[in-house]
Amino acid sequence: MGHVAILGVFVADTTFNADRQPRMGETILGNSFTLGPGGKGSNQAVAAGRAGGEAHFVARIGRDAFGDMARKVWAEAGVTPAVIDSDEATGAAMIFIEAGSGDNAIIVVPGAAGGITPADVEARADVIGGASVFITQLEQPMDAAMRGLEIAREGGAATILNPAPAAELPEGMLSLCDYITPNETEAEALSGIAVRDLTSARAAADALLAMGVAKAVIVTLGAQGVLYHDRDRSVPVPAITAGPVVETTGAGDAFNGAFATGLAEGMDPVAAARFGCACAGLSVTRPGAAASMPTRAEIDKLL
Ligand code: ADP
Ligand code: NA
Repeated sequence: MGHVAILGVFVADTTFNADRQPRMGETILGNSFTLGPGGKGSNQAVAAGRAGGEAHFVARIGRDAFGDMARKVWAEAGVTPAVIDSDEATGAAMIFIEAGSGDNAIIVVPGAAGGITPADVEARADVIGGASVFITQLEQPMDAAMRGLEIAREGGAATILNPAPAAELPEGMLSLCDYITPNETEAEALSGIAVRDLTSARAAADALLAMGVAKAVIVTLGAQGVLYHDRDRSVPVPAITAGPVVETTGAGDAFNGAFATGLAEGMDPVAAARFGCACAGLSVTRPGAAASMPTRAEIDKLL
């Protein structure tokens, strides 16, 4: 089994719970605060590492307290950092949660990780080109993601793009992707087809295959699981329930990290998607994102 290379962003999630948002110029007292590791790429690396994968994480990271937090969470998950140290501050997300409704409003500052360049990615070509599976997302600059996909392709890695958050893709990016893993919103943003159920997910997946995705489109459908769709078969993979749902933050990251690990182990992609659903199904029964990623033993027991 080869390793999984993940290119992405780490930020510290600072979460504030208050009865309402402050108005400009106003200071209010909130109810609670938590600080924890975040960033889609880092969460996916943690999911992959805990799911039993040999995960290597490529990112830019600041030499500061949030950077230390990142290194600690990777070490605990068995993730090997392939990071570029930066004098910029490690990024952070300010997550406001409204008490009662649970609605949120978020500011993300990618900081050091957002400044990663194609040259930085090339400096980690050994890790990326030598992987059996490469995965990236869209929180870091598009040119860095593109360079990562190119290097992975040249090295013979299977490539996965998790196109989150939704964004317009540069010309040629989709044809560098063996697999693409949009959620409903992202599938709609990329294909122009509103995704509400399996039928509309199939239509969006067909559109993405026609736009150049090499092997398969995996649309994640929240509590409905995922649709695995390639040119020969279209297979719904149901969500796997592991208990009462506590917090779905990071469910997509759990799915992606475990899906990549499954592929790296040589699983058939539908089996890897099922493995991803088990990992995500466990993660939603626990609070937090990185903190909620299950171990391999827990996933195997559920399957
Ligand atoms: P994202 O977080 O990126 O929007 P989804 O909401 O589609 O991603 O969730 C990703 C995966 O997590 C789903 O395909 C499913 O396997 C799992 N999942 C999400 N919500 C639930 C849930 N309520 N119960 C069980 N599994 C879930
Ligand atoms: Na969770």
